[in-house]
Amino acid sequence: MTTTEAPEQARRSAMEAKLADLHAEQTKAVEAGGKYIARHQERGKLTARERIDLLVDEGSAFLELMPLAGWGSDFAVGASLVTGIGVVEGVECMIVANDPTVKGGALNPWSLRKNFRAAEIAEKNFLPTINLTESGGADLPTQKEIFIPGGRGFRDLTRASARKQPTISVVFGNSTAGGAYVPGMSDYVIMVKEQAKVFLAGPPLVKMATGEESDDETLGGAEMHSRISGSSDFLAVDEHDAIRLARRTVARLNWRKQGAVPATTYAEPDLDPEDLLDLIPTDLKEPFDPREAILRIVDGVSPGSAAGGGNEVAFDEFKPLYGTALCVGWAQLHGHPIGILANARGVLMSEEAQKAAQFIQLANQKDTPLLFLHNTTGYMVGAEYEQGGIIKHGAMMINAVSNSKVPHLTVIMGASYGAGNYGMNGRAYDPRFLFTWPSAKSSVMGPAQLAGVLEIVARESAEKKGQPFDAEGFAAVKAMVEAQIEEQSLPYVLSGMVYDDGVIDPRDTRTVLGICLSVIDNQPIEGAMNFGVFRM
Ligand code: COA
Repeated sequence: MTTTEAPEQARRSAMEAKLADLHAEQTKAVEAGGKYIARHQERGKLTARERIDLLVDEGSAFLELMPLAGWGSDFAVGASLVTGIGVVEGVECMIVANDPTVKGGALNPWSLRKNFRAAEIAEKNFLPTINLTESGGADLPTQKEIFIPGGRGFRDLTRASARKQPTISVVFGNSTAGGAYVPGMSDYVIMVKEQAKVFLAGPPLVKMATGEESDDETLGGAEMHSRISGSSDFLAVDEHDAIRLARRTVARLNWRKQGAVPATTYAEPDLDPEDLLDLIPTDLKEPFDPREAILRIVDGVSPGSAAGGGNEVAFDEFKPLYGTALCVGWAQLHGHPIGILANARGVLMSEEAQKAAQFIQLANQKDTPLLFLHNTTGYMVGAEYEQGGIIKHGAMMINAVSNSKVPHLTVIMGASYGAGNYGMNGRAYDPRFLFTWPSAKSSVMGPAQLAGVLEIVARESAEKKGQPFDAEGFAAVKAMVEAQIEEQSLPYVLSGMVYDDGVIDPRDTRTVLGICLSVIDNQPIEGAMNFGVFRM
């Protein structure tokens, strides 16, 4: 890494600009309700984020997940849901709050994806779930994309209950029609007096269906459900009381984490995470030594006691002289042991793929979670590499990643192209959590390469037909495709599609991963010793 002033300053300025932009996009999610936020507050109601703030333990961190869901779509950024992991009475819980200021809290196709991903995270990491409910149900204009798959939300709730993962629903307002099954399927239900409305059909629909005259309170008010139908377990006098009752419910879950207990004392990183802004390249072609990132993310060296312990070396690199485009090794983060695989140079060759496969097996042998740090342009192409077996070696790595049973965490730091995205445990490979840095880019290949391939194909196709190739005309198409791929590979686009769990400030990586590793410890880690057949 060159350390002259100018490039460091340029990198920092570029990253700061990206972070300011990220903040602006995240603010869109917070302010998505627009004028309806004031109306909601005038009605004496708390916003989704205020409800969460009051629910979680004072001074604890709330790890918001997927805040940019829906970005770039016709729907508001955030997809009318606020989701994340918060600590309630000392218990890490998945919290899913409807944002009633956005289209009455109606759920659109992106809300559904976000909700399903939240349920998946809760399932894989064994977390109780708290739903803060106030929703107009399905977004009616897009109901065809919601109605059939949406049933899964209720299925997930009852399956969580069957797995002994408690579900709590706090109903602050509307929860009608299908939405009534959120409290309906939950283990514990709290309804707010004179606010909760939980019925299969409201008064107009009942009148139409049966001719019966009724009102909201009689059909589905909190008093009625708490005193008569029994669909509510607690009648809260107001929103604050509901949150108090939710906290009491969690306090009585008798929740015990079943996983490993991390080292209680550990050192902060040996190098300052703040420096990351000086180091992360703005141009993905610029090399980036991932050890610079690793030493700013993992626990630093700490002295051992007389009985041993401590962290003598921050990062114990494994096989440092072999397959050097991939750096792998052992470290500790917030006291949790981890294995790390990080791209040191863009391309992955046979040696790197074999090294990765071996390392993943070792992590499984010792039940240790893995962290993948992406900055790869994919597997090496060309006759020499094909003849050397790059396909079978890449397949070996993908086999190891796919069949590994230890928890995987993924951070896309820079490039994540082609099958490199798969081998390094991209989204399709079920990492427990996946975050991206604002510098990340993901697509089937680099934009210039993709546009170049298209040109070659078009040229050959014209030749086969005996037609002249309009190189000048194609230049415009090529530029357009390149710009389009460039845009589609940006982190917000991928985050908007819920292909990650959030875009994060690189300086927060340690804290974010520390929370994830703590969450993972809700259950024991048992690595696989059975993998698919490795093609040798
Ligand atoms: N789908 C799409 N848009 C919806 C919606 C839904 N299910 N529910 C509300 N909206 C829209 C409204 O049309 C309004 O849009 P606008 O800003 O363009 O005018 C906006 O959300 C706010 O709705 P509003 O009725 O003013 O909010 P509210 O807080 O007073 O009431 C509800 C919220 C949810 C009680 C009320 O909107 C409602 O009853 N919606 C229909 C619920 C329903 O029947 N859902 C079907 C379930 S399957």
